[in-house]
Amino acid sequence: MKEQDWWQNKIAYQIYPKSFYDSNGDGIGDLPGIISKLDYLQDLGVDILWLSPIYQSPMADQGYDISDYYRIDPCFGTMEDMEELIEQCRIRSMYVLMDLVVNHCSDEHEWFQKAKADPTGEYANFFYMQDTASDALPTNWRSYFGGPVWEPLADTGKSYLHVFHKKQPDLNWENPKVRQAVYNNINWWLEKGLGGFRIDAIINIKKALPLRSYAPDREDGLCHINTMLSDATGIDVFLRELKQSTFEKFNAFTVGELFSTKDGELLDFIGEDGYFSSVFDFAPTLIGQSAKGWYDNRPVTPEDYKEAIFTSQARVAGNGFLSTIIENHDEPRGVSRYLPAEECNDTSKKMLAATYFFLRGIPFLYQGQEIGMENTQFHDISEVDDVSTISEYQIALQAGLAPAAALRAVAPYSRDNARTPMQWNTATHSGFTAGTPWLAVNPNYRKINVAAQQEDTASVLHFYKQLIAMRKNPQYSDTLVHGSLLPVYREIPDLIGYYRQYRSQRLLLLSNFQNRPQTLVLEHPWQHVLLSNLVTSLDTPTSITLKPYQTLLLDVSDAIEFDK
Ligand code: GLC
Ligand code: CA
Repeated sequence: MKEQDWWQNKIAYQIYPKSFYDSNGDGIGDLPGIISKLDYLQDLGVDILWLSPIYQSPMADQGYDISDYYRIDPCFGTMEDMEELIEQCRIRSMYVLMDLVVNHCSDEHEWFQKAKADPTGEYANFFYMQDTASDALPTNWRSYFGGPVWEPLADTGKSYLHVFHKKQPDLNWENPKVRQAVYNNINWWLEKGLGGFRIDAIINIKKALPLRSYAPDREDGLCHINTMLSDATGIDVFLRELKQSTFEKFNAFTVGELFSTKDGELLDFIGEDGYFSSVFDFAPTLIGQSAKGWYDNRPVTPEDYKEAIFTSQARVAGNGFLSTIIENHDEPRGVSRYLPAEECNDTSKKMLAATYFFLRGIPFLYQGQEIGMENTQFHDISEVDDVSTISEYQIALQAGLAPAAALRAVAPYSRDNARTPMQWNTATHSGFTAGTPWLAVNPNYRKINVAAQQEDTASVLHFYKQLIAMRKNPQYSDTLVHGSLLPVYREIPDLIGYYRQYRSQRLLLLSNFQNRPQTLVLEHPWQHVLLSNLVTSLDTPTSITLKPYQTLLLDVSDAIEFDK
């Protein structure tokens, strides 16, 4: 019965290991570093830790290119460190999720090496290998990171498919041997005591067969992968088999990375018998995306944000749980994306935090979000590590932008914004490393860091602790976890309001997304202020003047008439 699943009242926190905490001064965050910060995370109140990939990898895409699923990359530590992390979490009643990256592996994985050595042998069928003796590519799909998805294999007359980087060849899920090898690995990890997995790029495992070209959507003659994906059918067979062969047996928590589902399909993923426990709500991250490329994206308005979150909530309609985010390792910092730059301050950061945190779903925090970390600044494209930013920069140049303008246009969307090292204190390199960090620290670390915020009860960090404590407070948790969500005052510009309702309790969240006060006449009088980001003096029980960027959580229970 879904309502009793162990993970529903939990709060998750994503760690990007490379940038979290470096224990040995090589400039790269590592597993012993994470272990040393578990007390900090426990004190914050989070229960589930998702680790971006730590498997052995050549790091062409920061670990999302795995060359051995059974090993820890030495830059992160050892298998003993990983076991110790799981154990230390268990002692603290915390759970570890690993990142499951099985749409593709690394071209340095043994399977691909064998396929390359014998492109007609058994392992060739672990991948998509096609004859490309003639000039024509097998299909005209554009890789997510730019350029065609087909890469020639030297001296073989064959090319292989990669929907991401060319060092990330796609695994052929049609081959039962591939599927079995994946399940064996998942079970091996779950037996070590993992809580579950975050599941990477999963919608890509099913290709539309037979492989074919589609109408091009840019001058490069290629089409977006989504065009092919929307033509693919039958992923349900793979996903049901995956669940039954692995997760189900361990009662694991799984959260899928899924940018869209076809109409009516969402409940197949997260309903009562869904393939996964949850999927991320990416609707806000898709706002303003241009088909031409990042350089042509448009900024987010409060109305966009409101419509995105309410549309997602309505799609789920209380059946199953989305996982809610404002950022992750693939996105800019949420406070830089959803708040105007000139108004990005502690008050507005707290407002954004409360607005997403009390939505119905499993709240995920991304490292540094709890202290309000912001986008970084790039002065030159050479400072960028992220493969997708580099590709989008090229697209901007091709569209005619001058180098400086191209950098300015793509920087707000760079994945490196969220990948800069965690800001622990005011020591050199923000206390992240005693060496030289692999990616430069955001210079604002002297102002924004954990140590300073721990001392300051008015900090963003303390506010996040309050949000977490509120969701766990036995007096309100049923409502905040299971209660239905009803948008209210939806037509009022720059205001986001919703009720959370469960049995005889009704809570009201109000956020004033503007730099002006806003007076509201309430439908129902309020009884208690449960949370506010500013000192409040509410006018009367039915009239409220919200200050600029104020957020309030109110108890309005006594005022309603209940159906049952
Ligand atoms: C997912 C990951 C991203 C990675 C891609 C390919 O989108 O979150 O970081 O580049 O998959 O594995
Ligand atoms: Ca290290």
